[in-house]
Amino acid sequence: MTDLPSRRTFLGLAGVSAATLALGTGAPAHASTPGDVPADPFRLGVASGDPEPDSVVLWTRLAPEPLAADGHGGMPRRPVDVHYEVAEDSQFKRIVRRGHAVASPELAHSVHPEVHGLAPGREYFYRFRAGSSISPFGRTRTAPARHDQAQLSFAVASCQAWYHGHFTAYRHMAAEDIDLVFFVGDYIYEYAINSANLWREGVQLDKVHDAEVRTLEQYRLRYALFKSDPHLQAVHAHAPWVSTWDDHEVQNNYEHVGVTPEDFERRRAVAYRAYYENMPLRRTSLPHGPHMTLYRRVGWGRLANFSVLDTRQYRLPGKSILGARQEKWLHDGLRASSSTWNVLAQQVVMAQIDRDMGPGQTFSNDQWDGFRAERERLLALRTPNLVVLTGDIHRNVAAELKADFNDPESATIGTELVAGSIGSDGDGTRRDNYTDLWLSNPHVKFYDGRRGYVRCTLTPSQLTSEYRVVDYIRRDDRAPVSTAARFVTPAGRPGLEVQ
Ligand SMILES: [Fe+2]
Repeated sequence: MTDLPSRRTFLGLAGVSAATLALGTGAPAHASTPGDVPADPFRLGVASGDPEPDSVVLWTRLAPEPLAADGHGGMPRRPVDVHYEVAEDSQFKRIVRRGHAVASPELAHSVHPEVHGLAPGREYFYRFRAGSSISPFGRTRTAPARHDQAQLSFAVASCQAWYHGHFTAYRHMAAEDIDLVFFVGDYIYEYAINSANLWREGVQLDKVHDAEVRTLEQYRLRYALFKSDPHLQAVHAHAPWVSTWDDHEVQNNYEHVGVTPEDFERRRAVAYRAYYENMPLRRTSLPHGPHMTLYRRVGWGRLANFSVLDTRQYRLPGKSILGARQEKWLHDGLRASSSTWNVLAQQVVMAQIDRDMGPGQTFSNDQWDGFRAERERLLALRTPNLVVLTGDIHRNVAAELKADFNDPESATIGTELVAGSIGSDGDGTRRDNYTDLWLSNPHVKFYDGRRGYVRCTLTPSQLTSEYRVVDYIRRDDRAPVSTAARFVTPAGRPGLEVQ
């Protein structure tokens, strides 16, 4: 494992000073003179995330040469000032906030300014300036005020294996009238990319990508490669994101076969740091070595309460998927919620899926089926209007969460919407080898093997969920989008009604 980060690099992680991090999140900066910054530094786009009623976090990462093999994006190894503006209009005539942050090489020249003092429940536009370059603008919005019940539209996405095909689904998502995007894991994949898995036609890749990602520089380069997609950039600029990770942001299933626990901790540390550097996350998610707090709550007035989960970092196989602390935090939050809808944005399938079509029962231990006592404790809360958003399986699935999954007559106590992948697994088909297996579980109401996302609309009286799919992604990004299924979940009546 010679290309693991050295001990010195690892210790250096703890040494990203508080001052450096504060500067990247918007504290006053020393001046750097215009002309310091190479031309065209905004090639990775702009983003925003984690809205609150008066605030939002903005993001950009300077990279004039995003695919520079050393992972530094073509930036000089010194700090650079980045200025931002927030306006009520996309012409930036009515500017409401201005500020600046320092993009430092320690954080791959990313900035995460948190903008406060905004009005609740409204749209804003933002852009950055570095040197004499001005970024494209992004659109964002604040969460509504505490009492507000206004309608909310959002999309759910996951699993974007860039090399498996074009991000056609994002091209369509960028044209949807949505307020928020939930991304529930596998923003990157760590695998070597070569002729065996490069199914995205029309691209050629340098040899440097043909290696499993392990070092900080490799993770940074991998994010840059995926983020070079114009449709992904368009969706980031279209709406604020609320993101969580699954396994591939570090390594498949956190297996760490053949490496010591210490080596895996080092890898986790660099992977978490690169994740933070590349996502619109608040300073509450700053990584500390191999630890990073990603579970959090996003409130949307009285309409909805979103609990964003991390089912990877604290997992103890066979014992716990959330860890004791996160489980308590989740249960406390759900008990205290006075919102109409209680939504979990998380990674792996929660509904019981029996993989034996005969009389026996077989379960996947990588999903909530591997943690049945924990699932029972969660569902026993009988949280009103519980909706679970899921990714991971690269298939579109809609399921009802049951009081007793082995008894179809038992009460339905929640609704699970599994978003199909954006890219992972290439061209899909409506029916595939798993269709019959999944649908043989009576609480699974829908299965579709194509690429796509779920579009949801929440009102005080109902949730509408639409499964948006494309027929192919390998050849080009031109496939049209269609709605494979549409469900309604009335408030007070969990489950799925076909519409
Ligand atoms: Fe995936």
